[in-house]
Amino acid sequence: STVSPLIAGNWKMNGLTHSLDELSELARLLTTGESPRALVVVCPPATLLAAVAAQGASSGIIAGGQDCHREPHGAHTGDISASMLADAGAQYVIVGHSERRTNHGETDQIVCAKAEAAIGAGLKPIICVGETEAQRDAAEAESVVSAQLAASIPDAAEHHEVVVAYEPVWAIGTGRTPTLDEIDEMHNAIRARLVDRFGLSKGESIRILYGGSLKPQNAREILGIGNVNGGLVGGASLLAKDFYTIISAV
Ligand code: G3H
Repeated sequence: STVSPLIAGNWKMNGLTHSLDELSELARLLTTGESPRALVVVCPPATLLAAVAAQGASSGIIAGGQDCHREPHGAHTGDISASMLADAGAQYVIVGHSERRTNHGETDQIVCAKAEAAIGAGLKPIICVGETEAQRDAAEAESVVSAQLAASIPDAAEHHEVVVAYEPVWAIGTGRTPTLDEIDEMHNAIRARLVDRFGLSKGESIRILYGGSLKPQNAREILGIGNVNGGLVGGASLLAKDFYTIISAV
């Protein structure tokens, strides 16, 4: 695949105003060093989204949300709509992260509706899939991920940009990763599913990110795999220096 790489940082429920200093440092690294090959997206908590969008713009950092509601507006206390994220300056939004699927009971159908809502608001959804450790041990990883892809990606993806993030649940925040062969195999399988569904040219143009304990130490190897078109980085995106090292590894 010849699609340009994308590295997204997911701050999760981390980040207060002073975290913007880390963003300035990332901006400094990005603008003083060799210009990165990858698109750089930072997904802060919603409270910092407008600030990240404003502060990141001059250095090419793109802001993204971490989740959105499936409805465009209404009586949903505590939720945030895709158009609110767009209004605050976001261009991307993560949907279906395993922490949302697990902690908030989000099914593939809900994730699909959220991705559709994101597209409707002009955002590019980063749709997350990934197997649990028990599923991998039972040799079900590929079938689980295939089913998630089929049900979580909306048909609207045919005519709009979407990103897929493969995040094995057992690799998130654990310091453990699949082997390079396992990542290669899964990303090839995901690519095949995308081509089956959307045809060759669209199927090959969809970025497939790897996420789960991506770090400065393993980034070059993992991001060098053929159908790995970038990464979704949690913990290591909180420090500008580490995140920049990962960005520079593609
Ligand atoms: O969205 C990011 C992933 O959940 C990865 O998190 O890099 O801390 O393992 P992690």
